[in-house]
Order: sequence, then structure tokens, then C-alpha cells
Amino acid sequence: MRVLGIETSCDETGVAVYEGGRGLLAHAVYSQVALHADYGGVVPELASRDHVRKLAPMVARLLEEAGLSGADIGGVAYTAGPGLAGALLVGAAFGRSLAWGWGVPALGVHHMEGHLLAPLLEPDPPAFPFVALLVSGGHTQLVLVEAVGRYRLLGESIDDAAGEAFDKTAKLLGLDYPGGPALAALAERGDPERFRFPRPMTDRPGLEFSFSGLKTYALTTWQQQARGLDAAERERLRADIARAFEDAVVDTLLIKCRRALEESGCDTLVLAGGVSANRRLRAAVDALMAQRGGRACYPRPELCTDNGAMIAYAGWQRLRAGQSEPPAFDIHPRWDMTGLPSL
Ligand code: KG4
Ligand code: ZN
Repeated sequence: MRVLGIETSCDETGVAVYEGGRGLLAHAVYSQVALHADYGGVVPELASRDHVRKLAPMVARLLEEAGLSGADIGGVAYTAGPGLAGALLVGAAFGRSLAWGWGVPALGVHHMEGHLLAPLLEPDPPAFPFVALLVSGGHTQLVLVEAVGRYRLLGESIDDAAGEAFDKTAKLLGLDYPGGPALAALAERGDPERFRFPRPMTDRPGLEFSFSGLKTYALTTWQQQARGLDAAERERLRADIARAFEDAVVDTLLIKCRRALEESGCDTLVLAGGVSANRRLRAAVDALMAQRGGRACYPRPELCTDNGAMIAYAGWQRLRAGQSEPPAFDIHPRWDMTGLPSL
């Protein structure tokens, strides 16, 4: 079965075709970064409108490049959430319409399940069960994955997600949106010995995370240290803070991963979500698993951040198992409560 995957939950338009037995046939991602850059973050309405503009031509080009037509597609999977309502609606409406026109089943896919399963797109995929660390802009979760669709939440962030903490700290260091990769690049020039930031919630048992205090710590450090510095010294300070922040996040994630592996008895750790593109996090996870005699798995960087391939794959897993949904969906941006039917 060949499945077309569509991702429009936030600021990336992703499309892909996955075929059982053959793998990923084609995929393409368009990032709206330039569109939102002036605003310092994603503007939901602009995101939706841009998905409207890009989606149809991207799917047409994708099929053409893969040498396929609509008749070759056996199912359509689109991100149904979580994400921005308007942006999700674009993918859902378009995906559903294509499926209806082609006479094939369609299915709304959970964005985080997409991220979670993305490492299975790689050669020599991890075997179940495994522990997954999901680190994106909206989520930080440790999940015990027993099979496709059998997920046990071991722990998650009680406030900011790891990616969100990267983005907010980057912003207060004066870096452009999206801050995560920019902060990581700046940290490369930082001195790891100058500051030591806290490793939040590692001094007590449990697998919960809290990252919101780290950005405040970074801000306070900046405010205390930046006074009276010349431009070059300020630049060095920014890099040193970025490095201390990145080390604190990576170390904290690693401590909780180690705990999750110990508690679950798993010897495979899977990294997924946008922050798993972070080089230092990958290196730390590699070292941890080498030391434990286990396996670390993560997708290639382009499949860590939002993409259509992971949606095509998660959709393929479910569609081939016979899941699909009736061709109707609804949302109510404005809704008069007094008009609800009585029970
Ligand atoms: O999974 P993703 O593309 O979108 C969501 O579902 O949220 O993740 C985006 C997040 C952003 O917060 C971004 O700053 C972060 O992933 N990110 C990184 C890196 N690349 C992306 N954070 C740290 N280091 C990176 N290299
Ligand atoms: Zn994502």
C-alpha cells in the first residue's frame, strides 16, 4: 500500500509517499521560517494561508517526481493534531478531499506518533519495546513504546517543552526565530566551564521535567554579567550562556533517559522530535547507550523536525491495519452555546 502523508500542524508544509516493503518513495518539506521571522514566532493565520498556497503544488510535484499519479495512492494520512487549528484544517481538508476524489481511505494522524515512529523509517530500525524521548517545540515526553499504538507515558514536562525553552532562551539572547538551531550554533563557541546552570528536578525521583526556570536563570545570568562589557565581551558572554543552557538541557534529558531505561528494563533509546536534531544531545545519547551496551536510534536530521514522511509512515501503519475514518470533520471557531441540542 502506498500512502500519501501530509503535515501542516505548524510552520512546515510536509508531503511524502511511503510504500510498504519499499520505504519512503519521495518527500518534500517547505519551511515558513522566512515568513514568520519578522514577528519572532509563528503567526497562526499566516501559517494557514501559506499552507493553502503551498500544499496543492507540492503534492503535484511530489507525485510527478516519484513518477506516480493519484491512481497509485492507496490511502491518505494527514496530521489531525496537536497543532494550530487553522493550519491543521488546511491539511485535513486537502487530504480528505484528495482521498475522496481518489476513492481511497483517509486517516488523521497524531503528530507526536509521527515523530515517535520516524526512527522506524531508517535502515535497521529499533525493535519493540523501546524507550522514546520525544523532544519538540510543544512536547517533552518519555514514552515506553511496546508496539505501534501501545504507548505508555513515563514522564513529561510540567511546564515548557525542551524546544520551547531553547526558543525562549534564544530570544532573550537576541537570536532570531526559530531559536533552537541558532542557540545550538552559538553554544559551539561557548566556554563550557564558565557557568553551570541547574539540572531541574534531577535531585528527586521521577521522570517529570521542568525547563521554564532555565530561561529565567539564563536571563538573570545575562543581567548580572553583561553590565559594562564591550561588544566582544558581550558576544562571548552570550555564547557562554548558550553553552551552559544547552549543557543543562542535554544533561537533564540524559539523567531522565537513564532512569527511564533502568525502570523499564529496555536497552534501546529512541530520540525523536525537533530537538533530537541537536548534535550535542545525539552525542550524549550515543555515549550513554554505548556505556550501557544498548542502542541509540534517531532519524536523520531532516526527519527529526516536522515533515510529511513521518505522517505517511504512521498513517501507513494504521491504514494497512484497516483503520480509517468517515469522510467528515468539523470545527467551530465561533459557536453559540445556546444553540446546542438538548439531551
Ligand atoms: O518537532 P518540531 O519540528 O516541531 C514541533 O512539533 O514542535 O520541533 C521544533 C523545535 C523548536 O523548538 C526548535 O527550536 C527545536 O525543535 N530545534 C532544536 C534544534 N533543531 C530544532 N533545538 C535545539 N537544537 C537543534 N539543533
Ligand atoms: Zn513536531
